[in-house]
Amino acid sequence: MFGLGTLKRVASEITCDVTAARERDPAARGAGTLEILASWAGVQAILAHRVSHALHDAGVPMVPSMLSYGSRAVTGIEIHPAATIACDFFIDHGAGVVIGETAEIGERVTIYQGVTLGGTGFARGKRHPTVEDNVTIGSGAKLLGPITIGHGAKVGANSVVIEDVPPNSTVVGNPGHPVRVDGRKVEGPDSDWIHLPDPVADAIEGMSERIATLEGKLAELNGDERPASEVRELRPRRGPSSAGG
Ligand SMILES: CC(C)(COP(=O)(O)OP(=O)(O)OC[C@H]1O[C@@H](n2cnc3c(N)ncnc32)[C@H](O)[C@@H]1OP(=O)(O)O)[C@@H](O)C(=O)NCCC(=O)NCCS
Repeated sequence: MFGLGTLKRVASEITCDVTAARERDPAARGAGTLEILASWAGVQAILAHRVSHALHDAGVPMVPSMLSYGSRAVTGIEIHPAATIACDFFIDHGAGVVIGETAEIGERVTIYQGVTLGGTGFARGKRHPTVEDNVTIGSGAKLLGPITIGHGAKVGANSVVIEDVPPNSTVVGNPGHPVRVDGRKVEGPDSDWIHLPDPVADAIEGMSERIATLEGKLAELNGDERPASEVRELRPRRGPSSAGG
């Protein structure tokens, strides 16, 4: 039932979630609790969910769904009242987040805007992801089906993950593949899911080389000393980027 114990639990979860926002959002470091509650959409959505989930567990009809709907209208974040979310959960920015009915989320999980924890079709029963403790899910990532995201894993922005993710790994791409496990690069055939072939870039590169050859030949025929125009490397540079990656 919805008694004093439930109220106490919900209150402590909410305190935990506000602390999580302050610790994990650099923009929230100087903000007071009231300011965070009033203006952090991710915190408001999880707060509404704590209440709707407790009411759902207590078997209260309709109100949990109405709360969830109201929260979505205000924050742009949709969390089904039945979804199980442990404490210290933080949604940064928030808009476009969808967390499905049978999703389970562990402690100290961080997700960014545009993340979907969804199903793959019209199956019933457990059909949404289980996210273990200390997982970070980048903006726009789609995690689909009853998969498990192992503790400590990082899911790169815009990844589409449809298979289990090992603990302490980094997964990127579509379909999402581990590129780091325990901080080390994944080795072996078929392990590079970052530098994928780019047929359009390859075609342009081929044309550039042919144009350079033709220009060289033309220069030779005309007795022109000027070097043929330079063919620029089209592939993105590997290694650290100016964005800090
Ligand atoms: C995946 C992520 C968490 C980094 O995890 P990490 O374990 O520190 O991994 P690294 O930065 O070492 O990257 C590992 C490799 O994956 C690549 N990579 C990282 N993120 C990627 C992404 N989203 N998509 C494709 N490739 C990605 C890196 O270029 C690197 O490639 P390399 O092997 O050629 O060096 C981070 O890149 C990311 O996507 N964070 C989400 C942040 C976000 O959503 N911010 C929104 C703020 S509003």
